[in-house]
Amino acid sequence: MTVIHRVESPERLASAAADFILGIANERLRSAGSFSVALAGGTTPKPTYARLAEMLPTTSVDPAAVNIFWGDERCVPLDDPMSNYRMAHDVWLGGSAIPPDHIHPMRCDEDPEGGARAYEKLLRSHYADQEWPAFDLVLLGLGPDGHCASLFPGSRLIEEGERWVAAEIVEKVGGWRLTLTPPAINAAGAVAFLVAGEKKAEAVHQVIVGEHDPQSWPAQIVEPEEGQLHWFLDEAAASLL
Ligand code: 6PG
Repeated sequence: MTVIHRVESPERLASAAADFILGIANERLRSAGSFSVALAGGTTPKPTYARLAEMLPTTSVDPAAVNIFWGDERCVPLDDPMSNYRMAHDVWLGGSAIPPDHIHPMRCDEDPEGGARAYEKLLRSHYADQEWPAFDLVLLGLGPDGHCASLFPGSRLIEEGERWVAAEIVEKVGGWRLTLTPPAINAAGAVAFLVAGEKKAEAVHQVIVGEHDPQSWPAQIVEPEEGQLHWFLDEAAASLL
């Protein structure tokens, strides 16, 4: 099932997405006693993470029952301004009560392929005996070219069917990336795209209502097996729907 949440501004998107994330966290903590989320990188999620930093301490969510993962990472040092880990750390996790050993950054600045193997090993230990990682929630952004996580147009990883995590050098961004693979994303209990701005409108249109062509619009590959798919869009990003 796909649910589209259209909100009028990036500020409303941040609060709507934060409310949604806390809703899933509370539901999973009630039913399973734990909550795991794979974070999106880039810039769009930053206000949502800042909102979570404000709201989480006021809720009954037990930080010790939360595990934080990443959907993808740029292969740079964790303190590099381009790091997705650093973005989330600076606006949220660095000041949160979530135990440091429950925050699992992807490390790939020295050895991307080794980093992918290590992250997959971590996930296979966290989700022992499961065919795919059972994230309660995967957050994704969307590039103007329709990429999500680090699944870019033309990537061989769009068709990946076995690995949970893979490394790929992405010419377009001039560097190595680590990414969850499509089946690892699609095994989540819920997937939520956070997309804002007029520059994303064409990609939103193509991914949601365009002809099926994931090699050109990789985010089309996100079709959760059993989970729900949510789109949080501001009016600018949704303007071509
Ligand atoms: C990354 C992301 C990537 C991002 C999109 C949108 O590492 O950059 O994971 O998939 O979500 O490129 O980025 P913005 O939110 O900055 O537009």
